[in-house]
Amino acid sequence: MNFVTTPDSVLQIATQAMARTPDPRLRTLMTALTRHLHAFVQEVKLTEDEFEGALEFLVAIGQASGETKNEVVLAADLLGVSTLVALLNNQDPQGESPAALLGPFWRANAPVCDAGESIARSETPGTPLEVSGTVRDGRGQPVAGATIDVWQASPVGLYENQDEAQEDMNLRGRFKTDAEGRFHFRSVRPAGYPVPTDGPCGDLLRAQQRHPNRPAHLHFMVSKPGYKVLITQVFADDDENLESDPVFGVTRRLIGRFEPQHGGEHATLQHDFVLEPGEMNFPRPPIP
Ligand SMILES: [Fe+2]
Repeated sequence: MNFVTTPDSVLQIATQAMARTPDPRLRTLMTALTRHLHAFVQEVKLTEDEFEGALEFLVAIGQASGETKNEVVLAADLLGVSTLVALLNNQDPQGESPAALLGPFWRANAPVCDAGESIARSETPGTPLEVSGTVRDGRGQPVAGATIDVWQASPVGLYENQDEAQEDMNLRGRFKTDAEGRFHFRSVRPAGYPVPTDGPCGDLLRAQQRHPNRPAHLHFMVSKPGYKVLITQVFADDDENLESDPVFGVTRRLIGRFEPQHGGEHATLQHDFVLEPGEMNFPRPPIP
């Protein structure tokens, strides 16, 4: 007979109950998660009130998610877990990872565009931006026919799905690299933006006295069959929040050089990407 007796005895019995899990990876994941959760509860001596609060938070982030917002992804982002998973799974032999978290705003099936086209589909006032770069493989060879999926916030700091004034799929587009691995497109400079603060994650940020403002950035997803999908972000080098990104996405390598042209009338950004060989697996879109 194996009964729960003391607080310490619960863990052993709980993990024993999971030992028969046929899927070995699920068994490993759930056993380790249970062990860490128990250690956490013991370490902080979690009260019943706090436990209730934690469960309410989980219910609330689910309820706050829907067509235009994914509060669950946001919660993982704000805890640094999304960045940790991105960096852990995309380590670079030379040092800093070229990857960054997906974030809650990627939509699948952005419009397919020709090279040089603008992704500003509706009237989007702001500083015109020309983006260009080359996609290479690990040996420095250009990758032709790679897909560059780009999405960004507007110059007022809103994604189209958050903003009535923008056309559907505004500031989103998919481009292909040419025979030399090059891509280019036109847009407007994105502004930094606060992560959504009208839900339970906003309450958490306020309780922690953390500001919600992400530095201005463009999101990129670079893919081609035979290569791992590269999910990343490129940040504006003149943004005041580079060192206090609430979702910890900024690495030195991801700071792009936004060069003002003609006295700041417009700007250029040149940024190259490197694809690693592997399986092309796309993430699940956080919003439809
Ligand atoms: Fe973003």
